[in-house]
Amino acid sequence: MSTNRKWIPARKTHLHYYDDIPLYYRTPSGNISLYKPAGMSFTHESLERKYAIDEFFIHPENRLESIEAAQKGFNSSLRDQISNAELSDIKNSLTELVEETLSAPRAGGLTRVPMTVNQLVDGFSIKPAVIKNFAKISFNDYTTALHSVNVMALTIGYCYYVSLPEDQTRKLGLAALLHDVGKTEVPPYLLKATRRLSDDEFDQIKAHTTRGYEILKSYKEEEIVEIAGASMEHHEKLDGSGYPHGKTDISYFGRVLSIIDCYEAITNDDRPYRTALSPMNALELIKKDVDAGKLDKKIFRDFAYSLTNFKRK
Ligand SMILES: [Fe+2]
Ligand SMILES: [Fe+2]
Repeated sequence: MSTNRKWIPARKTHLHYYDDIPLYYRTPSGNISLYKPAGMSFTHESLERKYAIDEFFIHPENRLESIEAAQKGFNSSLRDQISNAELSDIKNSLTELVEETLSAPRAGGLTRVPMTVNQLVDGFSIKPAVIKNFAKISFNDYTTALHSVNVMALTIGYCYYVSLPEDQTRKLGLAALLHDVGKTEVPPYLLKATRRLSDDEFDQIKAHTTRGYEILKSYKEEEIVEIAGASMEHHEKLDGSGYPHGKTDISYFGRVLSIIDCYEAITNDDRPYRTALSPMNALELIKKDVDAGKLDKKIFRDFAYSLTNFKRK
């Protein structure tokens, strides 16, 4: 294989999804060798071997296939899992999956994401109270993937509270999960920067809105294309002070996401130099922007109530 295409490390927790994908491993001498061909599952014996082997890899040519296989495997049991399994396990797998999915958004990695969101909406509608706990489970590593999963869970909770029709809930949940997809094209060092950014650097971060729009628009799946506008709008403000366009006529999806995105980021340590605020303090801070005419008052109030109430209004 050419040297500029790297082997993709395979997550151990995902190995059982890869029946149809050839898997490779690193031999003690440091070479990469075939572990199992496509069409072979892990037997008990191979699972035992698995623990003796540290690193598994996927060939770059199988990257998209491997993402699809993981999404398919995860989706197929998700609805039942929500009622039975440990929520933190589901969230961990989901966050890992989103992370993997976001590694190839331009290559088609998002194709099966609507299905994942639909399964979650279905699962959550059986047990709405779990949404609150789901959004609260946190991991040490705060990534765009974890942020996106949290924004999605909070958004579905809001949708349930305001009795948004199911088709709209699915769309808004998907828009929430993919709102920051454009960040995959912002240099990671800028996203993690602890110093003051230059205007040019800040412009690069702001561009995640238009990049996200372009990525989502490039899909053939209608449900993905439909939410591109919300990704573009999630940093716009009603008084025109937002970006990328400073527009004031923001769609409903865009107005919801701007509030929930902000709440999620400030209730987590989204930047190394910032300390997370409590939900109450976060709401107070966001209310300043609501009072200043930047964010939607009614959506804000409903969202605040949705954090504590699970009964529909
Ligand atoms: Fe964003
Ligand atoms: Fe965000």
